[in-house]
Amino acid sequence: MFRSVIQGVGAYLPERVLTNAELAKQVDTSDEWIIERTGICKRHVAADGQKTSDLAIEAATRALKAAGRDGNEVDLFVVATATPDETFPATAARVQSALGRPGVPSFDVQAVCSGFIYGLAVVDNFIKAGQSKCAVLIGAETFSRILDWEDRTTCVLFGDGAGAVVVSAEEGTGTSSDRGILSTHLHSDGRYHDMLYVDGGPASTQTTGHVRMKGKEVFRHAVVNLASTVREALDANGLTIDDVDWLVPHQANKRILDSTASKLGMDPAKVIVTVDQHANTSAASIPLAFETGVADGRIKPGQLVLMEAMGGGFTWGSALVRL
Ligand code: ACO
Repeated sequence: MFRSVIQGVGAYLPERVLTNAELAKQVDTSDEWIIERTGICKRHVAADGQKTSDLAIEAATRALKAAGRDGNEVDLFVVATATPDETFPATAARVQSALGRPGVPSFDVQAVCSGFIYGLAVVDNFIKAGQSKCAVLIGAETFSRILDWEDRTTCVLFGDGAGAVVVSAEEGTGTSSDRGILSTHLHSDGRYHDMLYVDGGPASTQTTGHVRMKGKEVFRHAVVNLASTVREALDANGLTIDDVDWLVPHQANKRILDSTASKLGMDPAKVIVTVDQHANTSAASIPLAFETGVADGRIKPGQLVLMEAMGGGFTWGSALVRL
């Protein structure tokens, strides 16, 4: 069978850094409150005119370099984003035209903060079906464009960024000792729309809208759903939490990461945490954290990595990957 093996990872954060102290000059908040409730110290904000595709292209270029691949070898470009450059065409088409061969397929996946996990599932299934040999998956967001900068309950939580992986087909044995994506697990429950959504869109208001969220409820659902999808990924592969070398969670809030790890009985030292550095970057946060762990040498080839995310929809899911 074919396995979808991650050959390289890349990340990009815009230059402009917005600290908690700067935010405290704009809304009624404080560095202490933000750090205590979220663990976030700063976030990056795209420059005027810098689009989601610009971030995506930079991250993908770095991932291709890390993989030792050329964009011309790529036969599929997928961008996970909730903040596309335009309503259409897909942001992925711009990435494909910058980096790839004319004619190869490209499309966006929209599952907000779970977008990277959904994208991994899509790419993995294309590869397993023999429809792709080498795919680039990018999580890229400019959430700064959809924040209400006067709403302190949301504007302190998010940031901009992009992360990418190059995934290619390799023969595997079908066991959990294979390299590559071992399994993906996706869920959604649209009954929870009002807990986390954007109050605009082409078909509703003809505006872009702003993020609206019931933070406490989201928090409660996140811990339950994330722990449950981690368990299902382990069960599907006949593994236990002790077999996992690294948990690379969606980086929303340090308290969610801690509560989920504790519910799972996971050693906190095995959880990659970068939310302090870039806040919640939605679909970009898992590849940003993954890149950090790979680049600093913590995550090594052959190790087992569990990724999980939850976001608006609700959507949630997990992926078990051997590097
Ligand atoms: N600065 C100062 N005070 C604030 C701020 C702020 N930025 N935001 C809210 N407050 C106030 C509230 O108004 C409230 O004041 P009150 O008691 O006078 O009414 C008080 O702080 C407590 O507010 P709560 O909402 O109860 O605070 P809580 O401890 O729940 O923390 C938070 C809020 C951080 C949003 C938390 O609920 C959370 O992290 N939820 C998860 C949301 C999330 O991460 N969403 C991301 C997308 S989904 C995902 O990725 C999983």
